[in-house]
Amino acid sequence: MVKALDIAVRIARLRESIDKHNYNYYILDAPTISDAEYDVLFRELQALEAQYPNLIIPESPTQKIGVTPLDSFKSIKHLTQMLSLENAFSEKELVYFDQKIRQLLNKDKLNYACEPKFDGLAVSLIYENGRFMRGATRGDGNFGEDITLNLRTIPTILLSLQADFPEKLEVRGEVVMPKSSFNKLNELAISKQEKPFANPRNAAAGSLRQLDPRVTAKRKLEFYAYSAAVIDGKPLPDTHHETLLQLQQWGIRISTENTVVKGIEAVQEYYNKLLLKRDKLPYEMDGIVVKVDDLSLQEKLGFVSRAPRWALAYKFPAQEVITQLEDVDFQVGRTGVLTPVARLKTVAVAGVMVSNATLHNMDEIARKDIRLGDYVIVRRAGDVIPEVVGPVLEKRENTSIIKLPKKCPVCGSDVVKIEGEAGARCEGGLICSAQRIESIKHFVSRKGMDIEGLGAKIVEQLVNEKLIESVSDIYALTKENLLKLERMGDKSASNILTSIEKSKNTTLAKFLFALGIREVGESTAQLLASHFSLDELIQAKIETLQDLPDIGPIVAGHIVFFFGQKNNLKIIQQLRDAGIVWPKHQQVQTHQPLKGKTFVLTGTLSFSRDEIKAQLNTLGAKVTDSVSAKTSGVIVGEDPGSKLAKAQKLGIPILNEKELIKLLKA
Ligand code: IVH
Repeated sequence: MVKALDIAVRIARLRESIDKHNYNYYILDAPTISDAEYDVLFRELQALEAQYPNLIIPESPTQKIGVTPLDSFKSIKHLTQMLSLENAFSEKELVYFDQKIRQLLNKDKLNYACEPKFDGLAVSLIYENGRFMRGATRGDGNFGEDITLNLRTIPTILLSLQADFPEKLEVRGEVVMPKSSFNKLNELAISKQEKPFANPRNAAAGSLRQLDPRVTAKRKLEFYAYSAAVIDGKPLPDTHHETLLQLQQWGIRISTENTVVKGIEAVQEYYNKLLLKRDKLPYEMDGIVVKVDDLSLQEKLGFVSRAPRWALAYKFPAQEVITQLEDVDFQVGRTGVLTPVARLKTVAVAGVMVSNATLHNMDEIARKDIRLGDYVIVRRAGDVIPEVVGPVLEKRENTSIIKLPKKCPVCGSDVVKIEGEAGARCEGGLICSAQRIESIKHFVSRKGMDIEGLGAKIVEQLVNEKLIESVSDIYALTKENLLKLERMGDKSASNILTSIEKSKNTTLAKFLFALGIREVGESTAQLLASHFSLDELIQAKIETLQDLPDIGPIVAGHIVFFFGQKNNLKIIQQLRDAGIVWPKHQQVQTHQPLKGKTFVLTGTLSFSRDEIKAQLNTLGAKVTDSVSAKTSGVIVGEDPGSKLAKAQKLGIPILNEKELIKLLKA
């Protein structure tokens, strides 16, 4: 009996402590313990709850993710209507908003609370006696859908509030998907040939409307509160901004970008600053929201139809706009792959004039059903290349199908579809000037021969002016040649020649990468360089290459094919004659302490995956994607995936980053 009581007390203490650490981490962004220490507490609670399931309560921090999918969502009536906002698109409209309300209130200058306008999905959360009870979508403003189970899975929505909470609290805010999670989710969807989401807002909405909360839990959503609709049993602060700070104290997440300013000019300054920061913030915003800060003044101002008079959404320039697709050109890459590029009627997208956008490949065009002459949605987010999201079907009139050309638009060689892949390729090889230009750009790039100053534009000019034809011609360039180029000064020409000279001292790995052998990236080049000299590699058979960890029949085939081409061997000889050298010692790695071992990587590590892979390969180990009974070890970084659980289940050794470094050093 005493023992049972002890256990109940221990469980309560663990929960209280974990809740506090969740609050520090997710709400205040100021953790006081390490992840490892947190894991110890969490695992102890999990273990005790597994042993005493009758002591599990729904708000325990272990119970965020439910396991039973729903059949459908229930409809919920909101306690008070969920309103929308008036929009402004210019400074003039902002100034007008301020004038109008100052007139109504007969005031000189007002304090305004300024916040980001989050581009996600509006939700309402209800806490009773400090426990998260219910959450719903905005719906039509009066009725929303009960998505409590899905909202519970979001790490920044805590199931229990901190002490001193009110009896009843309803907060409203936005669920967003951070840009990084959105990009990862779409990469995964594309690799599985599934339909990607058009933007983070749709991805957040789609993730919240999952009947199985386990799916939502995987989507890395976040919550930010922007108002309190009900606070029962506690005195109300006087201002909106103080209300938000009070919410934060209770354990509700708010944005760090919130502030209060005096006068409308300062609001415009806030807008300008946030617009500059827009691309750097982890989530998308479509503007700012300005609110009269004084709650008694808000009450005086009241509402017009479904929007408050005291607030305004001041929108940023749109990141998605509609324009017409005038033409499609095909660009030819280094390996001959054709990429369709949309030529658009020029439009401003988020403040930048856009007339070209990528269409990825023919399969994407077919999947999105984009046709010549269509009105299309163009999207530009941050530094990302503008992309055609899809056609506006309601505006479709005279359109025609986009066809893959039969001949290469650059050299006229045949274009063939790549078997098993979405792309098509020009068969011209180095006859094709586009492929030549791209392969020279690759050769001089930082990871290759690293020739500073020889940028894309200069390479294009050199090839077009017939001053160079292949990579070996770079080493015969003279100052006289370079000075023939547009806008090339004496100083720049000298600098380029110095860089060319400097690049002659390289490593075999960089040299192999620079050659641009298909599917030989940085890590494969390093692996090859650590096992063969160049002459050995030229002679190597497919079977010998396949003996190396991580080299399969396809890559081995590309390597053998490359060195089987007379023209390639001629260029390599010319490069050697030009004086390109690398230290001999890196060529043969005979010491392979990890030969025969297989490792799997999961989670985020401080080094790039390619780097770790290359190092392990050099020591003789293989790196594979999935955990099986044969795996020798799983290397675990931050935020590991399901591979960790599988490894634990199979009893496979787990290594953290420190242990990995030790292994590599040993
Ligand atoms: S306040 C009565 N603040 O914008 C005031 N809304 O266009 C209600 N939104 O449905 C909203 N960020 O989902 C407010 N900082 C913010 C916001 C915000 C995004 C959304 C909200 C609302 C929509 C109205």
